[in-house]
Amino acid sequence: MILADTHTHLYLEEFDHDRHEVVEKAIQSGVEYMMLPNIDSSSVKPMLSLAEAFPRHCFPMIGLHPTSVKENYMDELAAVECWLLDRKFYGIGECGMDYYWDKTFINEQEIAFCHQIDLALAYKLPLIVHIRESFNEVIRILKDVNKPELKGIFHCFSGSVEQAKQAIGLGFSLGLGGVTTFKNNKMQETLKHIELKHLVLETDAPFLAPMPHRGKRNEPAYIPLIAQKLSEIKEISMEEVALSTTQNAMNMFRIKPINLSKFA
Ligand code: NI
Repeated sequence: MILADTHTHLYLEEFDHDRHEVVEKAIQSGVEYMMLPNIDSSSVKPMLSLAEAFPRHCFPMIGLHPTSVKENYMDELAAVECWLLDRKFYGIGECGMDYYWDKTFINEQEIAFCHQIDLALAYKLPLIVHIRESFNEVIRILKDVNKPELKGIFHCFSGSVEQAKQAIGLGFSLGLGGVTTFKNNKMQETLKHIELKHLVLETDAPFLAPMPHRGKRNEPAYIPLIAQKLSEIKEISMEEVALSTTQNAMNMFRIKPINLSKFA
């Protein structure tokens, strides 16, 4: 069984003491693909050195996280553009709108998000969207853009069936993380109404560890716990969950499988 973690921040300092062991453990758990969304200019170098250490398993993306949008956001966006000219990245992100932590820069957050949508379109890359108390604003922006060729992931999706259908209607997949495993989480009902072909798995490590590790450091080796929960909710096998979510991820990020026979 091959799994993909479509959203993991393994380059952060929480993994400074055991980063390579964490990647090896993930691979041993079947998590062969780890997508690395960027945060801001300070995280690019550690992210790229991890991607270079594991070129067949760790895939970098480039973007500016909404909570890193500050006075200097234009410089940060210019840095994103420079990196895109410099080497290959697999997605734009993570970007989006965060109204939870700080509303000081919400206008700048919107400008930065729109700019990154344009980059995703220009480079034909998937857009990794972060939403926190900003679902309606993000939907409004994506509807205004109105580009059917724009694809991507609503990262850490935890909304209603109605919201899931809005995201899917705009061409996006839903990223399912540890929150899905929390007791009585509303995603467990939402997911009954959403087809598997719209779903990908993610950890958002080191944050949001799934049960039974809730509150501790998260890591990609926990992806099988999320896959297990999804298989229970959908009443299908783990193999079916793995096959579908991994293929969805690989199509989205245009990654060729390491070993096709393992998919049989
Ligand atoms: Ni993230």
